[in-house]
Amino acid sequence: MAGEVRRRRSGRELSGREVGEDPFTLGVASGDPLPDGVVLWTRLAPRPLEVDGGLPPECRIPVEWAIAADEGLRDVVCGGVAVADGADAHSVHVEVDGLEPGRTYWYRFHCGRWTSPVGRTRTAPAPGADVRRVRMGLASCQQYDEGYYTALAHLAGEELDAVLFVGDYIYENEINAQAGARGYTGEQQLPEVFDHWLTTLDGYRLRYALGKTDADLRAAHAAHPWIVTWDDHEVENNYAAAVSQRNLPAEEFLRRRAAAYQAYWEHMPLREEQRPRGPDARLYRRFRYGDLARFDVLDTRQYRSDQAYGDGWKYPGPESEDPARTLTGAEQEEWLLDGFRESPATWDVVVQQVAFCQRKGNVGRARVSMDAWDGYPASRNRVLQGARDAGTANLVVLSGDVHVHYAMDIKEDFDDPSSVTLGVEIVGTSVSSGFDGVERPDDWENVMRVNPHIKYYAERRGYVVVTFTPESVRADFRVLPYATRPGAPVGTDASFVSRAGRPGFVPA
Ligand SMILES: [Fe+2]
Repeated sequence: MAGEVRRRRSGRELSGREVGEDPFTLGVASGDPLPDGVVLWTRLAPRPLEVDGGLPPECRIPVEWAIAADEGLRDVVCGGVAVADGADAHSVHVEVDGLEPGRTYWYRFHCGRWTSPVGRTRTAPAPGADVRRVRMGLASCQQYDEGYYTALAHLAGEELDAVLFVGDYIYENEINAQAGARGYTGEQQLPEVFDHWLTTLDGYRLRYALGKTDADLRAAHAAHPWIVTWDDHEVENNYAAAVSQRNLPAEEFLRRRAAAYQAYWEHMPLREEQRPRGPDARLYRRFRYGDLARFDVLDTRQYRSDQAYGDGWKYPGPESEDPARTLTGAEQEEWLLDGFRESPATWDVVVQQVAFCQRKGNVGRARVSMDAWDGYPASRNRVLQGARDAGTANLVVLSGDVHVHYAMDIKEDFDDPSSVTLGVEIVGTSVSSGFDGVERPDDWENVMRVNPHIKYYAERRGYVVVTFTPESVRADFRVLPYATRPGAPVGTDASFVSRAGRPGFVPA
């Protein structure tokens, strides 16, 4: 597309002194760590559950920021003034550089007499550094009205380099005054404005603000840098590129997608490079952690072919197996495979949304999910062939979407257990989507029997701690016994390891 898209600038400047109520209700965040920098984020919203957050939408407000080498913010290494522009919902995205690699920093914002909470962040190690350990949190799927975000309070307390959030940060459904499973009463009850399906920019913005009024979500952002990607519900359930699930005219759906992408960018610690241009945004990108690990973050929604056979769990056939079908789009696929070829890393980690490994409901001819990689087998095969051609020794796929934990071996032929294991996949369960869940879903025995490459399968809420060392990758599957009441404790349900050079999950 030719030409620079000029940003709409809100006209009037408002000084911080004119902001009469605490504007830092949505907390702070950081993200997309590089060896020399991170993105710092906040959004001014004195009344977060009102359209425009309680600020005049046409105004711009200066916000001071500072990043320091110590928790007390005495040793400030860098600072400045950013602008919270009403055109971006008064969000602030500061791209800090000049930091030291592989170290922890603390940051905060000021606006008039108001001071934000302090956030902690961490840069990536230097290129080529001999890194002995990288530890990531893997989380996804936080439907507000299906449970509390207690898992994120525990995630905040983990010792991590970063959080990888792989989609469904919001859901587009209507939320009643009680906030569904949260069971709000009295003053906690939500205004009527939330009781509608999302279609407009204001609606999407309000939904992010609602999520961030949860203190556990704010704590997890303040504790670690996040590397985020979206899945479907940030726009609409199971959409595919310009194809709406409800088959809206493409033009109308793309307008909705543009609004949804804009609100997403406004509320995430993302760089200017990721800013949407209308209905398009470049979200796929790459992070290097020395020579130990590379994280290729994918967008499997924006460029995918429409789901075969009308979506859902269907028998595979010529339509789903059409080699022309793609989950990544041609350009992103090429970028991914080029990346494999040039990667010096021990671990090549593909961070994305939907389950990569085959999952069958019964032996022989069986239905598979048309929304996951099972519905795009040619696309999956091209990725695996590309990794093999590049000599990728240690392929790891991280996924979300399905609200269950899985540890799975990526097989050359999923129907032949004796075939070569090409890598491993870790699927992280949901933060809150799916209510309390159960330890063993009804189909557990059948799934484990007919899918021998699935080494672990559980259905509680939680997240995964993924630890990379030169010797192995380890997945610690954290679970909570309930999500529909606050205060659940966390435990480790299972731990699996796969050794470098010898892919395949075994219990740790
Ligand atoms: Fe989800």
